[in-house]
Amino acid sequence: MKTLLINIKELLQVRDNAPDKVSGAAMAILPTIKNAYLLIEDNLIADYGTMENCPDYPETVINATGKMVLPSWCDSHTHLVYAGNREQEFVDRINGLTYEEIFNRGGGILNSAKKLNETSEDALYEQSRLRLEEVIATGTGAIEIKSGYGLTVEGELKMLRVIKRLKDNYPIAVKATFLGAHAFPAAFKDNHSGYIDSIIEEMLPAIANENLADYIDAFLETGYFSVEETDRIMKAGTQYGLTAKIHVNQFTAIGGIQACVANGALSVDHLEVVTDADIEALKDSITMPVALPTCSFFISIPYTPARKMMAAGLPLALATDYNPGTTPSGNMNLVVATACIKMKMNPEEAINAATINGAYAMGLSDSHGSITKGKRANLIITKPINSFYELPYSFGTNLISEVLLEGKLVTQ
Ligand code: NIG
Ligand code: FE
Repeated sequence: MKTLLINIKELLQVRDNAPDKVSGAAMAILPTIKNAYLLIEDNLIADYGTMENCPDYPETVINATGKMVLPSWCDSHTHLVYAGNREQEFVDRINGLTYEEIFNRGGGILNSAKKLNETSEDALYEQSRLRLEEVIATGTGAIEIKSGYGLTVEGELKMLRVIKRLKDNYPIAVKATFLGAHAFPAAFKDNHSGYIDSIIEEMLPAIANENLADYIDAFLETGYFSVEETDRIMKAGTQYGLTAKIHVNQFTAIGGIQACVANGALSVDHLEVVTDADIEALKDSITMPVALPTCSFFISIPYTPARKMMAAGLPLALATDYNPGTTPSGNMNLVVATACIKMKMNPEEAINAATINGAYAMGLSDSHGSITKGKRANLIITKPINSFYELPYSFGTNLISEVLLEGKLVTQ
């Protein structure tokens, strides 16, 4: 099955020999082809170029006159599987409580864990699939989804089984991350090592047995998991072939990034607080820093210092953090716009961060994140626009006309 896109005003993120990530000054370069065609064969990008070299029209032609085409967004950090919402905490914050104060009253992650453990696997799947359909419609073509609201063996397995069902039933690429170390459940408040024993001795073997996870995560933060506790969890994950992707430096810098780099983490995520030593640790490492600007927006905390990190030569990825507490939105378009508006990233940098670097941060560099022959035909076709700068500029407007996943138009 062949599909040809013709008269594309500008084809974005075109890379013949795509690097696995782009760093530092190179992030400001977004290679494009104007007046382009793109040929899809089955589920893959087969060819592209300028219209004067366009091949004969195959069976299906999509006329993209005035429109731009780019690779789908790669959202490398979400908690899209959850039960119910936390809108009361949203209002509590408006009225003056902080995220930390709400957690210390038994809200936050523990509030979501209670709801999740009261929800059946089927009901959880139904709630989650609606969110996945919504993010697909907003142009996301590869997504990482975490567990972490179970905090019991059964609850964590339930979440990961729902993630697997989503992966099996939708054409979007899905990576699953085990986040048992999201918070200490009330029963283990004064017995941290007991809970970590349960993660390592009960949860991990059960998850590995059903092959339910690709990565392992922990909330490395003051009041949550310490550097030493997270180190233990990362090392246990490695025993089961699970590489680390860690929540770190959201509120405090306590040496977590250094531990993550030492353990060969694929990504370190949040980074609202970043020290010079953290930047040094990340230099020349394999670890991708991931910023979550709509989380900063929603709970009014600092933004990741993107300019400082890129000036130091680091790469940066952008993701949504879609979750009921700190970011009840899975819209990557809004993430890209917020990165431009609040983090002073140029549109070129933000689009690189949300595509090729996002793919890296979930181990999908070979198949996603750029317009490259042989990569998946997961594409966004915009409405007619003047320049791709309009994507972040018109931040409240849906500028997506069509979405293709695995070479097929996604029908809403
Ligand atoms: O990435 N910070 C840790 N975990 C999530 C929020 C979890 C929640 O509040 O439910 C985050 O922001
Ligand atoms: Fe998160």
